[in-house]
Amino acid sequence: VTVRIGIIGTGMIGEDHTRRLTDVISGAEVTAVTDVDADRAKEVADRFGGTAAVHSNGHDVIADDNVDAVVIASWGPSHAEFVLACVAAGKPVFCEKPLATTAEDCRRIVETEAATGRRLIQVGFMRRYDAAYQALKQVVDAGTIGAPLLMHCAHRNASVPDSVTTAGVLTDSVVHEVDLVRWLFDDEIASVRVLLPKRSSLAAAVLHDPLVVVFELAGGIMIDVELSVNIRYGYDIRGEVVGEIGVAQLADAAKTMVSTTAGSIRPVPADWRERFISAYDTEFQEWVDGVAAGADATGPSAWDGYAATVVTDACNAAYETQSVVTIELGERPVFYATGGTA
Ligand SMILES: NC(=O)c1ccc[n+]([C@@H]2O[C@H](COP(=O)([O-])OP(=O)(O)OC[C@H]3O[C@@H](n4cnc5c(N)ncnc54)[C@H](O)[C@@H]3O)[C@@H](O)[C@H]2O)c1
Repeated sequence: VTVRIGIIGTGMIGEDHTRRLTDVISGAEVTAVTDVDADRAKEVADRFGGTAAVHSNGHDVIADDNVDAVVIASWGPSHAEFVLACVAAGKPVFCEKPLATTAEDCRRIVETEAATGRRLIQVGFMRRYDAAYQALKQVVDAGTIGAPLLMHCAHRNASVPDSVTTAGVLTDSVVHEVDLVRWLFDDEIASVRVLLPKRSSLAAAVLHDPLVVVFELAGGIMIDVELSVNIRYGYDIRGEVVGEIGVAQLADAAKTMVSTTAGSIRPVPADWRERFISAYDTEFQEWVDGVAAGADATGPSAWDGYAATVVTDACNAAYETQSVVTIELGERPVFYATGGTA
């Protein structure tokens, strides 16, 4: 079976997912695309086979009889409307993060999906599909390091455009650690605070860089996340879980460490695309296989998307107020109690 996919938003990641679905993933075909920039949509359709229909808006993609499932890769504020339209049409939807930009919209999506009784929605948190993170989770779950107590994370980018603000980093960057630690420790984040280290002179005035975000999970595990987004040397994602009787470190990305008489070189990826390319491929192959089998989505759920938006809102509040902000997610529909893990 070939799953026919419609893409809404053919910008940077929408184009990359079109390439992935066309050239890398088996069992998928991109049959329709759209973008508010119509030329851009046509250009991407032409570049990858030229057979996809170019529609003038996202709702026409969702309604297209030649589309079995939809990928949403447009700007965040447009996601909620398209996700709800996919659920109404009964079509599986892969929505890039965020699920929606407000907690209210996320909550509405969660309730709408739960009422259908089918998991149609998957949110694009790809770190769950990264081999190094999966190996780390196996060690934690096996009890090899004893009960996990705390985790140190680093999220480093070589640079970001001068337009990126502190709120932008707390919304768009740290969201990946938010989902990651909820999945890794199978628990919800209960509170957050944001610490402000000495500022890097390389950061623009609108950005406090670096930041340290501290999460506390409901069960007491504490996680510190260093966000340094102008660190020049590369894209470096680190993690170390401290347990009662040992520690487990996130393995390096698949780069060969070279040691000579001159010393050792540990090459780092240039950017997130390079670091997580296999994770995106695995994420999409599993999603397509599930859709082809008519199965419910098993990846990050609408509930996970809701939790991520609530927590990133809390990160922004904690930064602005410089206080500990507690997080109330409210009742989780029983529907989301199973699954939701890659
Ligand atoms: N999972 C990840 O690691 C990851 C990485 C990058 C981006 N993202 C997410 O993917 C989404 C897109 O990011 P990007 O970096 O590709 O942005 P982008 O600006 O490069 O692309 C977005 C595209 O969507 C189009 N668009 C906007 N509103 C639209 C609408 N209503 N209908 C149709 N097209 C519309 C824009 O014209 C643009 O071409 C964002 O939500 C972002 O957070 C996720």
